[in-house]
Amino acid sequence: MGSVTKNRPENSKLKTQNSKLLIQACLKQPTLRTPVWFMRQAGRYMQEYRKIRSRWSIKEISKNPELCAEVTLQPVAKLEVDAAIIFSDILLLAEPLGFRFDYAKAVGPVFQNPILGQDDVDRLPFFDVREKMDFMFRALKLVKKKLPDGIALVGFAGAPFTLASYLIEGGHSDHYLKTKELMHQNPKAWQNLMEKLTRLTADYLAAQAASGADVVQIFDSWAGCLSAHDYEEFVLSHNQTIVNELKKRRVPVIYFSTGTTGYPEIIKKTGADVISVDWRTSLAESWRRLGYDAAIQGNLDPALLRNGPVKAIVRQTQKILQEANKRPGHIFNLGHGILPDTPVEHARAVVAAVKQWK
Ligand code: CP3
Repeated sequence: MGSVTKNRPENSKLKTQNSKLLIQACLKQPTLRTPVWFMRQAGRYMQEYRKIRSRWSIKEISKNPELCAEVTLQPVAKLEVDAAIIFSDILLLAEPLGFRFDYAKAVGPVFQNPILGQDDVDRLPFFDVREKMDFMFRALKLVKKKLPDGIALVGFAGAPFTLASYLIEGGHSDHYLKTKELMHQNPKAWQNLMEKLTRLTADYLAAQAASGADVVQIFDSWAGCLSAHDYEEFVLSHNQTIVNELKKRRVPVIYFSTGTTGYPEIIKKTGADVISVDWRTSLAESWRRLGYDAAIQGNLDPALLRNGPVKAIVRQTQKILQEANKRPGHIFNLGHGILPDTPVEHARAVVAAVKQWK
């Protein structure tokens, strides 16, 4: 109980802070309760989303601010989460880079012209993200107007490594052989590619913040395929550059990856305000190894959320909250995105359990 009174402030003490729980947690400020949202909270598991998807593609929804705002706000109303994440996709930044791709049913993204070598890297154009991604900034402004008080708006982008892995592999990959081949056998081309993606991504996220995103999340979904050594040598500095650019603009940053809980000390060096961890390591252990000066996001297993039963989901939700021990700086989330076919009631049960946690 000691930690409860110590870490949970009186209402009056919060007056001078940002009114959004999620932002308070990003900044490791004490919160009245733990904020909760879900990665991929807009998606096929939700009937309202499927209805819109039956008429429009992911690209069409993302590029139409009205549709984008509608889909972004669906889970906020339905799940009563503490954040909206702007509906988009990490791969949309690849289009102005000259890549042609589509989302194939049951396969995922398929690129027609992936990077084959140095020449393709050299040919990548620089462009003005403010102009080419204008649809997203317009959607952010629209969502911001419609968002209920106290709900944070999350912007996002892929991390340079994860985006590069799609550009090189041309889609999903089991072993990331082509990506690692470029990295190991042509470090100059790799460096060049990462620098280009890093500059674009930093600009993109800064522009999202300027358009109303309260916080941005960098999705490095596939970083866990790398050894600790390769992450540190070939990837880390680029993530640091992005985080530093956003810090200059005082935008909180969440860095998300999976499969990296074996080297939390290196992940922490990204400098992100919040480190999002997967479920493979307990939240208690991950936070202890990261150090309590970092805020943490996670870490319910999306498979448990999908499968249930609700009793087991609630038990694990409470276990995670117990491990967080009401320390300032915990954001409740999954360890990765919501899986298709997850019952909406399961997600709602988690939100209720987090909100009821005393
Ligand atoms: O979280 C949200 O609600 C916002 C929406 C969002 C999408 N993509 C829309 C989308 C976000 C945050 C992303 C990020 C994204 N996209 C990542 C990083 C997060 C992660 O899950 O690791 C990655 C790796 C991608 C690339 C991508 N886009 C893949 C691999 C796929 C196909 C796999 C799948 O789930 O079908 C997509 C398609 C995609 N992007 C969907 C959605 C909702 C699929 C649903 C549909 O077909 O409508």
